[in-house]
Amino acid sequence: MSLLQNKKILLGISGGIAAYKCAELTRRLVEQGAQVRVVMTPAAKAFITPLTMQAVSGHPVSDDLLDPAAEAAMGHIELAKWADLILITPASADLIARLAQGMANDLLTTLCLASAAPTVVSPAMNQQMWAAPATQRNIEQLKKDGRFIIGPGVGEQACGDVGAGRMLEPNQIIEHLPAFFLPQVLQGKKLLITAGPTQEAIDPVRYISNHSSGKMGYALASAAMQLGALVTLVSGPTALEKPVNCELIAVKSAKQMLEACQQVAHQSDIFIACAAVADYQVADVAEQKIKKTQHQLNLQLTKNPDILASIAQQLEKPFCIGFAAETQDVAHYAKDKMQRKNLDMIIANDVSNQQIGFNSDQNAVTVYWQDQEQSFPATDKKELAVKLLQLIAKHYTQQV
Ligand code: PMT
Repeated sequence: MSLLQNKKILLGISGGIAAYKCAELTRRLVEQGAQVRVVMTPAAKAFITPLTMQAVSGHPVSDDLLDPAAEAAMGHIELAKWADLILITPASADLIARLAQGMANDLLTTLCLASAAPTVVSPAMNQQMWAAPATQRNIEQLKKDGRFIIGPGVGEQACGDVGAGRMLEPNQIIEHLPAFFLPQVLQGKKLLITAGPTQEAIDPVRYISNHSSGKMGYALASAAMQLGALVTLVSGPTALEKPVNCELIAVKSAKQMLEACQQVAHQSDIFIACAAVADYQVADVAEQKIKKTQHQLNLQLTKNPDILASIAQQLEKPFCIGFAAETQDVAHYAKDKMQRKNLDMIIANDVSNQQIGFNSDQNAVTVYWQDQEQSFPATDKKELAVKLLQLIAKHYTQQV
C-alpha cells in the first residue's frame, strides 16, 4: 500500500508556466491512492484549464471565494478542514508574497489561513525573481510561520534563463510528501548508506560487476529522509535518479566505495551497507584495451577490502547494518555474517528467487539481531524500506 493511500491533499496552483506539470502531478498522486482536490488562483487558469485539472483529479476545481454555488457544495472552511496536507505548486512570487503577508484575497490564500494542515510550498519562477531580496525575505517569513518549502529546482527555464527557480518534477515533489505523514523516528540522525554494484576494471573498456540495480539502497535513502534523517548515499553506477535532498557520492570500484565510506562513517549515527560490492578485483588492470588474440584469457583476481567489516570493527563505530544476499541456508549464512563482521543487525534476502532481490522492484527479507528475527513478505522496495528503517530506528534508540 502506498504511503499516500487515502491521504487528502489539497493542491493549490498559482500562475506560472510550470502549472502544466500539475496535471501529471495530480495523476500520479491519484495513482498512489491519494484524494486530490484542486484550488486554482485566477492567474493559474491562464496556464492550465480547470477542466483538465477536474479530469485528472476526478473532482470539480475550486477557484472562487465568493461563488455561492461552490460554497454550497463544499465551503472554503470545510475544504480547509478536509485537507491532511496543502501542497502549493507552482508557487509564484506573488502568491508567496501574499502568503507571507497573511493575506486572504483569494480562495487559495484564505484556505491556507483557515487550515491547520501542514502547508508545503514548492516555488517556481524566473531565477532573478527567485533571487530577489523580497522573495527571499518572504520565503524566510513562510519558514518562520511553519510552512515547508521544497525546491525550487535548478536548470534551464522557460524564459531561456538558467538558474534556480524551476518547478520540481512531479516525482521529486511526491518523494517529499510521505514525510508529512510519518513519525520522524530518525529526526536529525546521520545515515550513511551504500547502494548499487561496484565495477572492477579489467582494462579501459571492460569491467567485472553484478546485477544490483541500486533500487533497494536508493529506496532506503529516500525513506530515511522521509523519516527525518540526513543521508549520505555512496553509490556504485546505477541508472537511478538521485533521491532528493540526500548527499550522493558516486563511485565505481570497491576501493573508491571504501574510501568514501571511511570519510563519512565517523560522523554517521547509522551505517547501512546495501551495496553489492564485488568480492574480487583484477590484480593487473591492463592500461590498453586487451586484444582478442589469445584463445584463452586468464585474469588473476585479488580479494577486495570488506567495507562493512572494516567500519563495523572500528572502536567508535556507527550502528552497523549489513545485507546478506544468499541463495541457500539463508538464515545460517546471514547470522554468521552478522557475527563475523561485528554487526548490530543483518537483513537477509534470498536472491535465488528472481521475483525479489537483484534488479527487482520488490524484496522479501528477514532481519536478524541479537537472538531475534522479523520477516517481511515480498513488498515494493520503497514501502519495505520505510518498515526496515522503522525497525532499525527502534533498535538503534534502545542501544544508545
Ligand atoms: O540493488 P538491487 O537491485 O535493488 O538489489 C538489492 C540487493 C539484492 C543488492 C540488496 O538487497 C543486497 O542484498 N545487498 C547486499 C549484497 C551483497 O553483496 O551481499 P553479501 O552477502 O555479499 O555481503 C554482505 C554485506 O557485506 C553486505 O552488506 C555488503 O554490502 C557488505 N560487503 C560485502 C563485500 C565487501 N567487499 N564489502 C562490503 O561492505
